[in-house]
Amino acid sequence: MAFSIRTRLTFWYVTLLTVSLIGFGVAFSYSLFKIFMYRMDNQITSVANMMVHTVLKPTGQIFLPNDFDIILERFFGIRTSGNFIQVRDAHGGVLAKSSNLEGATMPISQDTYHAALNGFISYEVVSMAGRYPMRVITKPIILPQKGMVAIVQVGESLEGVQEVLRSLFYIYVLAIILAVITASAVGWFLARKALKPVTEITDMARRIGAENLNERLNIAVPQDEIGRLASTINEMIERLEKSFKQIKQFTADASHELKTPLTILKGEMEIALRGKGGPEHLREALKSSLEEIDRMNYIVRNLLDLAKMDVEREALPKERVSLDRVLTERFEHFRRPALDSGVHLAILRNKHAVVCGDSVRLGQLLFNLIDNAVKYTPHGGRVELSLDEESGKAVVRVKDTGVGISPEDLPYIFDRFYRVDKARTRDVGGAGLGLSICKEIAESHGGTLEAASVAGKGTTFTAALPLAGAVAEA
Ligand SMILES: Nc1ncnc2c1ncn2[C@@H]1O[C@H](COP(=O)(O)OP(=O)(O)OP(=O)(O)O)[C@@H](O)[C@H]1O
Ligand SMILES: [Mg+2]
Repeated sequence: MAFSIRTRLTFWYVTLLTVSLIGFGVAFSYSLFKIFMYRMDNQITSVANMMVHTVLKPTGQIFLPNDFDIILERFFGIRTSGNFIQVRDAHGGVLAKSSNLEGATMPISQDTYHAALNGFISYEVVSMAGRYPMRVITKPIILPQKGMVAIVQVGESLEGVQEVLRSLFYIYVLAIILAVITASAVGWFLARKALKPVTEITDMARRIGAENLNERLNIAVPQDEIGRLASTINEMIERLEKSFKQIKQFTADASHELKTPLTILKGEMEIALRGKGGPEHLREALKSSLEEIDRMNYIVRNLLDLAKMDVEREALPKERVSLDRVLTERFEHFRRPALDSGVHLAILRNKHAVVCGDSVRLGQLLFNLIDNAVKYTPHGGRVELSLDEESGKAVVRVKDTGVGISPEDLPYIFDRFYRVDKARTRDVGGAGLGLSICKEIAESHGGTLEAASVAGKGTTFTAALPLAGAVAEA
């Protein structure tokens, strides 16, 4: 069963308090008992000492009066009241005892008797039928020539001690119950107070949805744990808001991009339907329509590619790909079109480099980069390709002497649908998706794609991908 934090906090608090109170109570009663015992032992020891002086004559004889009680009364007065006294002979037989013992006899165990024989004094708690337990001192009387001649036993009832301890126990149990009840109530209240900000955060977070992602949680004390939690949640909402915006923007751009060719297509069709021109005109209209369809097809294909890559990222094929081979293939593919547009395309260096990944996607990456370079380089320009190995990475550079990209545009060229010159690129057929696909491919292979450019002079794209060996080591 799951309990709330508040319940658990209160439970632990109360449990801890109860355990410490009980611990304290046990320690306290034990100490008190020890103190009582200490005092009692002192008392019976001094009575026992006096008894030894009373019964032992200077001649070494044991003197036992007829009326033991009278003697006790006379010698010790009030002090013996409550003490039980008993004198035994050397064999353990009872010689005399105080009348308050009535018919009973203070027992002596084998061990105690042997200890006395050896001259040792014993203290013990003894129980006698129908009476309270007693604390008893057993002290031998030893003469140098004769050895042990008698044993003096003095006892005191534990009744008083037990009574005090019992009353203390009842008071203490009552106090613990009261303390636990009070502590539960206070703990419950304090836990609620401490957890109030969490409840507030929960309520606030519940209110934030897709429509009001711009809202943030209020943070009362930013430095404490709750404050940090709230700012972490705020950061998360911010990231969500950003990706939500990106998705919205992407959808809007995609619809817009597809709408343009559709509008043109519709226009062409309407003109053709009106049938004013001859068959030549109709041919033109169909040709133009086909171009728009191609364009839409191209955009949709690229969009699908991007969507697929977003999903595929984890499940990318991991084959060994010779990047130099891919580069040569792409170079061969573009040789003719480059020649046609008067651009000199060349491979400067092509080092053998094996990377781990998807050969089709890597081919697409190089294709898009070379395609751009050729596309955005005017007649007479150069496009140079190179593949090097630099600190565990395969580095492909596509360098052109084309139109270049201004510093204001450079940060955005990898964004989806971003094109520098909207009007011009439409003629060249770009949708602004090529570079975002390239970036996605490079990153899904654990690499990077960067651009450096000087407007009017040319651009260099650098893709760095980890070598297959480096991936295996990592
Ligand atoms: N080598 C380059 N020289 C100059 N500008 C470039 C170069 N490569 C890209 N750009 C600029 O960056 C923009 C984005 O490039 P990207 O490849 O993403 O789109 P595109 O080429 O216009 O269209 P697509 O590649 O989808 O057919 C281009 O429109 C172009 O303005
Ligand atoms: Mg492109």
